[in-house]
Amino acid sequence: MVNKITVVGAGNVGATAAQRIAEKELARHVVMVDVAEGVPQGKGLDQYQSAPIEGFDSLVIGSNGYEESAGSDIVVITAGIPRKPGMSRDDLVNTNAGIMKAVCEQIKATSPNAIVIVVSNPLDVMCYVAKQVTGFPRERVIGMAGVLDTARYCAFLAMAMDVSVKDIRAMVLGGHGDTMVPLVSYTSVSGIPVTQLLDKPTLDAIVQRTRDGGAEIVKYLKTGSAYYAPSAGAVQMVEAIVNDQKRILPCAAWLTGEYGLSGLYLGVPCKLGRNGLEKVIEVELSADERAALEKSAQAVREPMAALTI
Ligand code: LAC
Repeated sequence: MVNKITVVGAGNVGATAAQRIAEKELARHVVMVDVAEGVPQGKGLDQYQSAPIEGFDSLVIGSNGYEESAGSDIVVITAGIPRKPGMSRDDLVNTNAGIMKAVCEQIKATSPNAIVIVVSNPLDVMCYVAKQVTGFPRERVIGMAGVLDTARYCAFLAMAMDVSVKDIRAMVLGGHGDTMVPLVSYTSVSGIPVTQLLDKPTLDAIVQRTRDGGAEIVKYLKTGSAYYAPSAGAVQMVEAIVNDQKRILPCAAWLTGEYGLSGLYLGVPCKLGRNGLEKVIEVELSADERAALEKSAQAVREPMAALTI
């Protein structure tokens, strides 16, 4: 358990993340910060009132300012508007960049040693804004997307094969968008390559459904985007850091030459421990996978170039 974790944004993703953090007792103090008057306070109090039933000792509070969040060990940023049906994540870039900038200035001033986990969309570009504005090293600004995209991929695989999700090992790399790169060659079920268990048309359909995974939920919900799986993804990263687990998870990391790419955030296998991003792991990719990763990098560079921060 660390002393304090702040979640910025008390919407569906933020509030669910705070609840998961508290229920897992990852921090003594869990602080939700949101500009909406009364909302973080109300949700925080409501969550803490579940503590006697759920039996956790994390104190959850909500606030409209950053005073209560000062000195956080970890800050999870979920602030920003979600997309509506028909929108791409990139359509949110300018609105959410403004919000991200304001949030990160506050974090820099009040929690200068925090490890920041970015969840807001468009994810890879928002990570870049967070890194630029805070000035924190790449070890302390990491994005959550690969964990979510991988979870969706694993869920679809488990459904198709009627096996436990626990036995599936997989990774989705690249940007958090239509160009993400599910690595079929690194997908296994208890060590059995998935290609021995599913035929190519089925695997292709699962890869495509994974790429469209966020949009599928937006289409159902109409007024917002997914939040159960995104919050679970963010909290898996928080847990790896708090408990110094050295887990290898696909996360958005600032690249400095890995995979032949630099000067952008992109989903790659990362080792997470108490120092945040402890290592970017380079794995061998087939020519097709490498080309797909490069295409995904290009798709991240375009909205990045359009930014005015
Ligand atoms: C998704 C959004 C949150 O993938 O990016 O569901």
